[in-house]
Amino acid sequence: MASPGNTSKKLYEGKAKIIYRTPDPQVLLTYFKDDATAFNAQKRGQITGKGKINCTISTYLFQCLEQAGIPTHWISTPGDRQMYVKALTIFPLEVVVRNLAAGSLCRQTGLALGYRLDPPLVEFYYKNDALADPLLTPDRLRVMGLATPDQVHILGTKALEINHILQHFFRACAITLVDFKLEFGLDHRGNILLGDEISPDTCRLWDQNSQDETQRVMDKDRFRQDLGQVEQAYQRVLERVAAQSTKN
Ligand code: TMP
Ligand code: ASP
Repeated sequence: MASPGNTSKKLYEGKAKIIYRTPDPQVLLTYFKDDATAFNAQKRGQITGKGKINCTISTYLFQCLEQAGIPTHWISTPGDRQMYVKALTIFPLEVVVRNLAAGSLCRQTGLALGYRLDPPLVEFYYKNDALADPLLTPDRLRVMGLATPDQVHILGTKALEINHILQHFFRACAITLVDFKLEFGLDHRGNILLGDEISPDTCRLWDQNSQDETQRVMDKDRFRQDLGQVEQAYQRVLERVAAQSTKN
């Protein structure tokens, strides 16, 4: 499927999205691809229709957050894979919030899958593919100067607020929000806005209607762990998110 615009306007191509310039320097156009990667791009594939699904889910969730008073980069969604967003200078940090233990937390600590984290865990990872996105300690964050201590505090607080809003939203969809990753950036006025996307690529989502450890997975773990039915799981998330959004 062709991506929009003239390639000379392409600013950046990431693993799942392409960013294009627009005539307005404060506005960028994001194009959501079907490409999927995992384990720092060691595993590569395609999830048919993913770009469209993630663009639509992200749109609903950004709107939900905006309504709850969280500023995001979202402006509008002019096509099913395209989103106009505010241009941000992104902090090179992945802010991960965990409500239940899963993924790297289980691998690195031995905590059991599904162990409840109360209060939720907030973690900062250095967004750097060459270094495989290492987990940062508060001291490493300070030494590296990737954000000021005040900004780090704001990011952590915002991440927990977003968790609260999204947990509530997903609960109404009969989905457990296990964990998720956020990216933040500064707009031209210096405001901190939520960027990137919120989708089954960047969240772990478990179906509350299924207790089966494999069947309940509705997110990119189906791709990471070769569980099958990846497109169907993403589609089911979209259907529930859309139904819940139109109720609000
Ligand atoms: P992890 O358990 O692999 O550290 O992942 C935590 C959450 O962050 C999970 O919801 C998946 C998401 N995530 C991303 O969105 N991008 C990434 O590069 C990684 C490693 C995780
Ligand atoms: N998106 C990351 C990558 O490709 C990791 C992941 O989501 O598991 O490397």
